[in-house]
Amino acid sequence: AEDGFERRDGELWAESVPLREIAGRFGTPCYVYSRAAIEARWARYRAAMGNRGSVCYAVKANGSLALLGLLAEHGAGFDIVSGGELARVLRAGGDPGRVVFSGVGKGVEEIRRALGAGIRCFNVESAAELERLAAIAREAHTPAPVAIRINPDVEAPTHRYIATGQAESKFGVPLEEARALYRRAAAEPALRVRGLAFHIGSQLMSVAPLEAAAERAAALVRELQAEGIAIEHIDAGGGLGVRYTRESPPAPSEHVEAVAGPLAGLGAELIVEPGRALVAEAGLLLTRVEYLKQGGARTFAVVDAGMNDYLRPALYGAEHAVEAVAPGEAAERRLDIVGPVCESADVFATDRPLPAAAGDLLAVRSAGAYGAAMASQYNGRPRPPEVLVDGAHTHLIRRRESAEDLMRGERLLPGS
Ligand code: LLP
Repeated sequence: AEDGFERRDGELWAESVPLREIAGRFGTPCYVYSRAAIEARWARYRAAMGNRGSVCYAVKANGSLALLGLLAEHGAGFDIVSGGELARVLRAGGDPGRVVFSGVGKGVEEIRRALGAGIRCFNVESAAELERLAAIAREAHTPAPVAIRINPDVEAPTHRYIATGQAESKFGVPLEEARALYRRAAAEPALRVRGLAFHIGSQLMSVAPLEAAAERAAALVRELQAEGIAIEHIDAGGGLGVRYTRESPPAPSEHVEAVAGPLAGLGAELIVEPGRALVAEAGLLLTRVEYLKQGGARTFAVVDAGMNDYLRPALYGAEHAVEAVAPGEAAERRLDIVGPVCESADVFATDRPLPAAAGDLLAVRSAGAYGAAMASQYNGRPRPPEVLVDGAHTHLIRRRESAEDLMRGERLLPGS
């Protein structure tokens, strides 16, 4: 039940609702989330943190309003990377005083809005950004709360597209440079030094690199304190991995203990920014087989979800468990699960033993994070709906887009 999805009499259910019923009501492709599964994961992080500090959900993982509202109700903070994400958090009833703003390219207008909203902290990633922030704060007569995001230069064994803490990465400020930035910030009346931040990568299967990063952060905090620069909080980022097929990721408590250990005794509050670990396993992508098709030695199951709906397999070569929702008469055989998009990368899985015939429903598991959030309209495909299941209730939290939505904001040239 903690997973939210369970097989009963051979059929896959979301809490107390058969997925078959959801597909019937809302069509496919469709994202389905379990409220209980999200809440269970939230509760685990919250309990692991205890009174050590705040959990700021990384909105980029899934910024759907209903999810943000649910987490806001539970007292969540939020890690945002854009003005758009700030607008979402505010609309969902999130507390701006619990918002931290990450990202290497914050725009002037985004900074103004966030400062005006009264966010908790700007996680600054360069000297140039620090100067921009100071200028905007001066002009607004509103001192800006800052943390420097350091680049701790640790190896995070994960896909190279989602590793962010190595020396060659575009993220964060090298340790040597961070000292100078802190001195500059401390001397600038328009800025208030609040914290220090790091985030080394995503889908981490070991907490050892997080611990190594926290040790480097702690050493810098001690140096700063010796200079009289107080650090009130340390933001240890997100990155905890989840189970996509057979992985066994560390628990939230292991993440928290790994970073809290080295940071203990500094008198600073801890912040963590989990995204994936809160929502990935709590969601799945429901899709229907349109056709079976033979191509040489391979058998393709062409499904109605594509890489525009769910990009991770195409972009990262991500492997996901794919399950038959309500196996019927079809015998199990080795299938390549492919989407309808005109790209060879539009493949969800290869050579998977599955009992599936045309018309059957499949579930791409653990698609709650970086799924709907990364969906596009490529190939003229309306983005799929999102349904949140809560016990026996289903809530359509985002309707399927229409053909009209695909053209929203567009104009023909005059005279045509
Ligand atoms: N904090 C910062 C500053 C981040 O950059 C990220 C993710 C997080 C927190 C949350 O990380 P998480 O707990 O979700 O691992 N689209 C990719 C993942 C990109 C992650 C980018 N940063 C994927 O689908 O695997």
